[in-house]
Amino acid sequence: MKIIIINGPNLNLLGKRENDIYGDESFNDFFNRIREKYSNVDISCYQSNVEGELIDKLQEVGYSYDGIILNAAAYTHTSIGIGDTVKAIETPVVEVHISNTFSREEFRHTSFISPNAKGIILGFGLQSYELALQSFLKE
Ligand code: DQA
Repeated sequence: MKIIIINGPNLNLLGKRENDIYGDESFNDFFNRIREKYSNVDISCYQSNVEGELIDKLQEVGYSYDGIILNAAAYTHTSIGIGDTVKAIETPVVEVHISNTFSREEFRHTSFISPNAKGIILGFGLQSYELALQSFLKE
């Protein structure tokens, strides 16, 4: 089982960014915990602040991996390009958000990912990623 977590812009700042919304754990610390806990799963992660690089990575893994956990961050609400890629590739994508985007500003209520995602998990902090991972393991 090959799973990748793909994180969009500013998620490299987790742990030191708006801690009241995103918590105080760095993504690396969280990822190391998850990797240990699910040591039977081949799980990797990728982060970029650049829209085109996220598209390149989705295309690269989107025909061979078993699952993609995608937090496109702000690009969720703006990127037709990433939305098109999610539609084009074959690997199922679970859309994830740390915060409950529907309880925040109106512009965060739109997602170009959701229409083509296998499912959406949001609002559970970093645990959103773990729940997405479990959704692939239950198949
Ligand atoms: C986010 C929510 C987005 O609206 C925001 O731009 C982010 C993070 C989340 O995980 O809650 O950067 O995707």
